Amino acid sequence: MIAEARKAVDALALDLEWIELPWGTEHFHAHGTMMPPDALEIARQHDAILLGAVGHPSVPDHITLWGLLLPLRQGLDLYANIRPARLLDGVPSRLEGRPPVDMLFVRENTEGEYAGVGGRAHQGLDLEVGIETSVFTRAGVRRVVEHAFELAQGRRGVLTSATKSNASRYGYVLWDEVVEEVHEAHPDVTVERVLVDALAARMVSHPSSLDVVVASNLFGDILTDLAAVLQGGMGMAASASVGAEKIAMFEPVHGSAPDIAGQGIANPLGAIWSASLLLDHLGEADGAQRLMRAVESVCREGVLTRDVGGSATTSEVGDSVAARV
Ligand code: IPM
Ligand code: MG
Repeated sequence: MIAEARKAVDALALDLEWIELPWGTEHFHAHGTMMPPDALEIARQHDAILLGAVGHPSVPDHITLWGLLLPLRQGLDLYANIRPARLLDGVPSRLEGRPPVDMLFVRENTEGEYAGVGGRAHQGLDLEVGIETSVFTRAGVRRVVEHAFELAQGRRGVLTSATKSNASRYGYVLWDEVVEEVHEAHPDVTVERVLVDALAARMVSHPSSLDVVVASNLFGDILTDLAAVLQGGMGMAASASVGAEKIAMFEPVHGSAPDIAGQGIANPLGAIWSASLLLDHLGEADGAQRLMRAVESVCREGVLTRDVGGSATTSEVGDSVAARV
């Protein structure tokens, strides 16, 4: 996926240097860790990271993700995970009547249900317990909600906040309060509070009623898989993890799909779309737009992998995007 994204970006002939960091499961098997101990310092020497999906059946997923993806998101304090979900022309819809889909998810990216707080006791015994604690901080919620308000201002001026503050009575209630506070500073944006279960239903029943959605880490994770399917499939979905520092990280939303590894059939458009978000972050707005227009044009022409109804291979799609660029 990343090779295809690089190919497409390189076709723009921008003044840009790639540094490849071979971190992941192979690194784990060779060195015992997913990435080197000074990974965060290394990362900070760059302007942006384009990250390929990590994970392989030879290593338990929680070891993989807590050894690479989550320490990068959390250690670089990339607190907002931005995930556009737009159904492009030419990509088959999974919904009857092909309702338009153009949502923008803002997922909290460093705390909530992913805080990594918890533990296990009485291991191996019948009374064994596993505790996973969600952590919501006022400052942590405020910064991501502010980001979402700003994005809503630049779009339809409508923000939907997803919580579960009926059954959960601490973290999400705090979340709702912070949304109200931040709303006072952005009175031009209309805010609606929707419980996450109802929101999941509405995404399918009335997708065009939604624009910018802000959600906690776990809810954002779940809703954006659903959103990915509404835009054609997991292979289409892109994301940007941004924070207060200059560095940001861009990754397709899909996983590593070991079941089809090496077959050349996976969809590179989520990775290429992520590269377009990366270029925007680097201040290359023109390149970002040209790349996105090339993606839109291959979709319209039907140069698509089989997950989205086509028969092209991974590299045929990448080549087509690069050619149109
Ligand atoms: C995603 C992924 C990750 C997440 C996994 C791989 C830890 O599902 O980026 O959506 O849950 O954030
Ligand atoms: Mg996910």
